[in-house]
Amino acid sequence: MTDQYAVIGNPVEHSLSPQIHDQFARATGQDLTYGRILAPLEGFRDAVLAFRAAGGKGLNVTLPFKHEAWRVAGVRSGFALAAGAVNTLSFEGGSIEGHNTDGIGLVRDLMQNLRAGIRGKRVLLMGAGGASYGVMEPLLREQPESVVVANRTLEKAVELVGYFEKLQSCAPQGFSARAYGALAGTQFDILINATSAGLEGAMPPLPEGIFAPGALAYDMVYARRTPFLDFARARGARIADGLGMLVEQAAESFFIWRGVRPETAPVIRALTQKAEE
Ligand code: ATR
Repeated sequence: MTDQYAVIGNPVEHSLSPQIHDQFARATGQDLTYGRILAPLEGFRDAVLAFRAAGGKGLNVTLPFKHEAWRVAGVRSGFALAAGAVNTLSFEGGSIEGHNTDGIGLVRDLMQNLRAGIRGKRVLLMGAGGASYGVMEPLLREQPESVVVANRTLEKAVELVGYFEKLQSCAPQGFSARAYGALAGTQFDILINATSAGLEGAMPPLPEGIFAPGALAYDMVYARRTPFLDFARARGARIADGLGMLVEQAAESFFIWRGVRPETAPVIRALTQKAEE
């Protein structure tokens, strides 16, 4: 029987994951199908168990279920453990394994696709919600010179930094939390927007002069222009949206399930072309 996978979320109809995994499967000759599951807000666990009972091999988990997926997983990989969130479930063997491939996806997109080395760089991460927790450990492991976490609600940024300082033996010297108002006079090489502000047509209140020469502005939101990327472009920064991260996290999930690493560049190219049409 053909192996079955799906993305589960609410809402889920907008998800590009089926398209991405179909392309991966075709390119690598893997025999699988990949669908979408709309789970009721109160029915995530039941939907996962039903899919598994019907022979499903694995799921990608999207909003708002990443925390719940962490609880459903009986075994959690290292990054998932630290992030407190799971975006990939694997049902091989008797247990439900939980992984988090979001951080690996971001780091690969920055380093391999955008050729933006992280080591020794000054990084600004905006936002202290689930998206920031998801990427923090893989980001810190690349040994940036500093990582400043800025958030509208400062206490949440302080909490996030405190949490990862305890977990991380390799936290950089300059790992700190700041309010946006306290960023004036500081420059960064890589600025990552992990807030949901762009979805509401807003952006974090950044001061002028925040982009170092040659800086990269990265928005985890994809398939739309965001005020943050417009702001960055107008100030001469390089910009990138989160499409590459989406494809890279999918490739890592595919690798976990199938043991085969698909090429990501053709898939990113195809999706970018489609978005521009
Ligand atoms: P997610 O799990 O997607 O990260 P979340 O936990 O709701 O979602 O977090 C959303 C993040 O976007 C938070 O850091 C939020 O800031 P607050 O903690 O102060 O709420 C941030 N955010 C949302 N809208 C924003 C805006 N207009 N300006 C700045 N930050 C915003």
